[in-house]
Amino acid sequence: MCGIIAYRGKRTNAGELVLLGLKKLEYRGYDSWGVAVKEESRVKNQESRIFVCKKTGKIGELELKKLKLPAGQLAMAHSRWATHGGVTQRNAHPHASCQNRVVVIHNGIIENYLPLKKKLMKKGHTFISETDTEVAAHLVEENLKKYKGKVSREVFQTAVRKALNELKGRYAFLFMCKDSDVLIAARRGSPLIVGIGEDSEYFVASDIPAFLEYTNRVMYLDDEEMITIGDQHGFMNIQTGKPIEKRVITIHLKAEEAEKGKFEHFMLKEIMEQKETIHRAINQDEKLLKKVAKAITQAFGTYFVGCGTAGKVCMAAEYFFSNIAKMHVNSVFGSEFSSFQHFIKKGSLMIAISQSGETADTLEALEAGQKKGARLLTIVNVEGSSMDRMADLSVHLNAGPEKAVASTKATTAQLALTLLLAYCAAGKLNEGRKVLVEAASQINDMLNPRYEEHILKLAQQIKNVESMYVIGRGVNYPMALEAAIKLQEVSYIHAEGFAGGELKHGPIALISKGTPCIVLVSNDDTREDVLSNAMEIKARGGFIIGVAPKREEVFDYWIRVPDVGSASPIVNIIPVQILAYQLAVLRKNDPDMPRNLAKSVTVK
Ligand code: F6R
Repeated sequence: MCGIIAYRGKRTNAGELVLLGLKKLEYRGYDSWGVAVKEESRVKNQESRIFVCKKTGKIGELELKKLKLPAGQLAMAHSRWATHGGVTQRNAHPHASCQNRVVVIHNGIIENYLPLKKKLMKKGHTFISETDTEVAAHLVEENLKKYKGKVSREVFQTAVRKALNELKGRYAFLFMCKDSDVLIAARRGSPLIVGIGEDSEYFVASDIPAFLEYTNRVMYLDDEEMITIGDQHGFMNIQTGKPIEKRVITIHLKAEEAEKGKFEHFMLKEIMEQKETIHRAINQDEKLLKKVAKAITQAFGTYFVGCGTAGKVCMAAEYFFSNIAKMHVNSVFGSEFSSFQHFIKKGSLMIAISQSGETADTLEALEAGQKKGARLLTIVNVEGSSMDRMADLSVHLNAGPEKAVASTKATTAQLALTLLLAYCAAGKLNEGRKVLVEAASQINDMLNPRYEEHILKLAQQIKNVESMYVIGRGVNYPMALEAAIKLQEVSYIHAEGFAGGELKHGPIALISKGTPCIVLVSNDDTREDVLSNAMEIKARGGFIIGVAPKREEVFDYWIRVPDVGSASPIVNIIPVQILAYQLAVLRKNDPDMPRNLAKSVTVK
């Protein structure tokens, strides 16, 4: 979580540049933000300073315009998703050491900050925030204590490295020192990418779109690595101090893809992009697909692992493989994996599904599986992400940047690719392609303004309800869970998903007159039964919203979806995405940055 960006180069508006870049990372966290600029010293021999400004809330356009930043060629900025310490200006990053000599920005969690803080306080350090981060600034300052005035690149680097070796936990760090012109970045578990501009110009950020308008040439920091950036750069291992050589990679991503364009919100733009993204997800190299399918059919147990929405796609994979390939695969949420790791051995296969490729719980599950000898396979959207790079085999969703916190186009791309893999494992790749190409073309027809208007009418009708429910059977059960997540996270209406058959075992007690209940229907052998469940709800006063290929008598409101056979979970979730978006807008919520959430969950 948390967005971080830094710049070092010839431009003198470094502060402004990092703040504009930070706006593009706000989806990673938006509780508070801050910037640090190494001020240009106007008078010769005058002591240099680091200017720091921090605020709570999202970065407002107006606020940015009004902000008076000093000129400087070195700056860094941070947008926070609070973990340790409330959302206050004090707890916002950057954090400085006592003498403002060292300033840091951090994404992650320092697990041993309390004993370190106590130790430093005994040595006379005064802490002003409740965060775990501040300890890093004081630690580096302590290591620089014996050096007065300007410090060399090596001295600063050694002080930072020594401090990092005392910290336990996951992090991406940026360090600046008022007595040095060098920027230091370090990584253990949270993403950091270095952008190489023209003329010794460097960018460091948690995601590429933050600096994509300046450069598409990047180097990835791996775990346990740090980079020191002066006029030149040098990578080294944090533990050993040994230098590391890195390859520069050119990224083929267009800056416009990460912009809203004509849409009011990223969420709507990304919903509409599903006209193309399904095609892009299934347009894979046949050899790669067959290799993955073979890995699944030959594995000694396959475990699909993911979190949140991606976790629901993992559940859907169980149904796809069972129905199509007649195979058993397991699905586990990343955060629950530790209880199942005992079953992993050499020959087991783990398949991580993730949009970002950075989710800490999923990464930790993969690391645990890797230690036990499992083969790792990933299905990710972000190329070059941690999961992408740690996998033995990786398949990309090719959905383009997904910026809205609520996942939409990445979800359907994950569903499409997983379904295609099930067909491939059954030796029916061409049949799978045909089903999905047909579904993609039907989605193209479905996503038109009239369709949106029809769903808007429903949103207007139910916008003030307290609770709503979603039911489905078969593969529509994980889709009901996913539908509930979508409704919860952007509309803030209490929503829950259930397996249709489970309702009568308890949850049906929640239904009263007018309670909206979405029923996900596919034209398959679950149809009759789920319609009976809808009847049971209706008999208790529930308001039945049918998402189905055909109008059924039990529906009070019908949202048509095309009949696309086994791809039906993909088309069924789309109207719920639209409904969630419209409810959010009608309820005056920000659908792109819902409260308490962040796009990339890099903490446990
Ligand atoms: C909800 C949503 C989240 C993510 C989850 C995993 O709309 O997007 O539940 O699915 O945080 O994220 P990734 O896919 O990046 O691993």
